[in-house]
Amino acid sequence: MDPAHDNPLKRFSNFWLALVLFTAFGLASLVLGIGFNRPVENSFDKINEKRRAKIKRESDKAHAGAPEAAQGSFSKVGAQFLETAPVAVEKPEFVLPGSATQKAKAAGGLGVVVPEGFPVVAADAAVEQAVMEKGKLTYIVCSACHGPEGEGMYHINKTGPPLAGSEWVTGPVANLIAIQFRGMNGTIEVKGKKYTPVAPMAPLPLDNESIASVLTYIRNSFGNKASPVTPEQVEAMRGELGKPMLSPADLIPPGAGPGSKPN
Ligand code: HEC
Repeated sequence: MDPAHDNPLKRFSNFWLALVLFTAFGLASLVLGIGFNRPVENSFDKINEKRRAKIKRESDKAHAGAPEAAQGSFSKVGAQFLETAPVAVEKPEFVLPGSATQKAKAAGGLGVVVPEGFPVVAADAAVEQAVMEKGKLTYIVCSACHGPEGEGMYHINKTGPPLAGSEWVTGPVANLIAIQFRGMNGTIEVKGKKYTPVAPMAPLPLDNESIASVLTYIRNSFGNKASPVTPEQVEAMRGELGKPMLSPADLIPPGAGPGSKPN
């Protein structure tokens, strides 16, 4: 700068003017800044407020009583589960209080019960051809798991044990009827081999005659030979219906002494 024009007084006043302006600007921005920080009204929220309130009202209404309903259905499903839990998977320490298994155990066990006066059929009683024909038709259902020739389906995902030559099939009739009414699960030994199927044998809702004829059929096919099963025998075993699923240990042993073969 030209020293001739250097005016210290002007420099001094310029300095103070700059300082005052700077402070004023700072104060102004502080004041305005507080203003800017105020929450801005969101028009989107406002537009949808009504709709959101309506949706909330509807969902509150829909949820009203939901916990009670869920609680109710859980205890219902739970109770049903307890009633149908297969025996074989219940270790003694796992038997749930109040379950059908526990009640049956308390009442003297889950074994197949042969009722008083169970009709006896002579071992060499004649097998009617018409009954065999009817049984053969019903057997189509069984063949899905036991094979068309009763050979078993062990080779296909351990589906079902063989009926051909099975000591169970030609053994006590009461066992066979009980299996139809209750189903069966757990490791079973058939013809000296152990079978642990992945799927249980489900109870099959058949009438007395169908059960009698299909059992007569399996007892007199695939090389098996045993007395026919009568609808009266099936009727006599109706007490088994509704009991928990059988485990092989609940069956009457096929070779157990006299009196154990009500067939
Ligand atoms: C869904 C497959 C399936 C169907 C269908 C089925 N079973 Fe079974 N069955 C099995 C299984 C699995 C076992 C072995 C259960 C066990 O291990 O405790 C079995 C066991 C048996 C046994 C005793 C074991 C043996 O091999 O002698 C007999 C008897 C029997 N079933 C008869 C029948 C008859 C009769 C029908 C048709 C009315 C039938 N099953 C339908 C799967 C089935």
